[in-house]
Amino acid sequence: MTKPWADQPFALLPSPTNTDGISKETVETATLMCFAHNIIFRTLNAIALQYAQLTLPTDISDFLIYCQCFHEMVHEHHHHEETDFFPAIEAYSGEKGIMDTNLEQHHAFEEGLKRFGEYVYSVKAEEWDRGGFKGLLDSFLPALTTHLREEIQTLLDLDKYGGEKLRKSFDDMEKKILKGPLDAYRVLPVALGSIDSTYDKNQQQPFPFFVPYLSQYWFSRRHRGAWRFSPCTVFGKPKQLPFAVEEK
Ligand SMILES: [Fe+2]
Ligand SMILES: [Fe+2]
Repeated sequence: MTKPWADQPFALLPSPTNTDGISKETVETATLMCFAHNIIFRTLNAIALQYAQLTLPTDISDFLIYCQCFHEMVHEHHHHEETDFFPAIEAYSGEKGIMDTNLEQHHAFEEGLKRFGEYVYSVKAEEWDRGGFKGLLDSFLPALTTHLREEIQTLLDLDKYGGEKLRKSFDDMEKKILKGPLDAYRVLPVALGSIDSTYDKNQQQPFPFFVPYLSQYWFSRRHRGAWRFSPCTVFGKPKQLPFAVEEK
């Protein structure tokens, strides 16, 4: 018997392969977006595979912190796309509204994600209700997962406006995220804990080598219990999900 892992129930995104005639920079940008979205997918899968088995208040309160960090990470990703990345694409392409489909997809999961966030920040472990939690999760999952998949093709389709400009816009957004008011005690461990270095050689963690060590020996300490739910170590090694149910 083996336990399911965080590559399901929502399938991960392979790096783009059908890339004939597409510039190297555009393919790199789409691959980086796959990498970022797979961090979200693994965290989401870890949540989906473990929530139903929680019974002890101590486990539930750690899990709620894990869910809060998931929420912060997803919110941060889409917020920066909307305020930095998409406007930059609109500006260099000269096409007003070029990212409107992506924006509409963001709006489709925004409200549900907000309600999920309000719940995981406010509910007490003793009052946590598994059915209510599932309802909140289900309210935004279809829209979120559809968007995480479809955004990759949107980026590949932008190649005609210049791959270098796309790549620069992406890098500028990343720099802004890293400079921004990220809580390293929360977003860093949750994100690193969802990077599988064995998955795809083109989707490797981009931080300097010491960042996982910093996370492990300093930033992970404050919410240590929450990272039990992570599918990987901060060093990119997959690990078993302690609360997932064994498959027969
Ligand atoms: Fe994205
Ligand atoms: Fe997006």
